[in-house]
Amino acid sequence: MAKLDILTYPDPRLHKVATPVAVVDDRIRQLVADMAETMYEAPGIGLAATQVDVHERVIVIDVSESRDGLMVFINPEIVWASDNRKVWEEGCLSVPEVYDRVERPDRVKVRALNERGETWEIDADDLLAVCIQHEIDHLDGKVFVEYLSPLKVNRIKSKLQKRVRSRM
Ligand code: NI
Repeated sequence: MAKLDILTYPDPRLHKVATPVAVVDDRIRQLVADMAETMYEAPGIGLAATQVDVHERVIVIDVSESRDGLMVFINPEIVWASDNRKVWEEGCLSVPEVYDRVERPDRVKVRALNERGETWEIDADDLLAVCIQHEIDHLDGKVFVEYLSPLKVNRIKSKLQKRVRSRM
């Protein structure tokens, strides 16, 4: 297994739209294993392949407190979303130290493939529903800060760009 580098906003590669996985093979299983290691190490509760500069539709999530509840979503699709919406404070491994409120449907039903290429479905609510939607946004090239006001987005961009510069 290998830990992967996580892209930091506003890296333009975070805006690429990921393509569906054609075959769930050993290459994809290795990607899943590496993404899981990267997520646990960070530590984070979710990671999309886009964030490690792989533009294929793969997500890993673990919202359990014991950190032993890995969920793998390959080619995830939201097949139902509730009309009821809820505001959560979100953060992102690609946007360090930034947390802000985003409103999304509070329940979603998701269909995906697992690492064995089998179809599975989950009815998600609370944090898991938020996390799945946040990660699918990544696959579509969208970072959560883009739901915020342009003023806030500019402030976040300049803060993170300064951070990158000072690390050179
Ligand atoms: Ni994120």
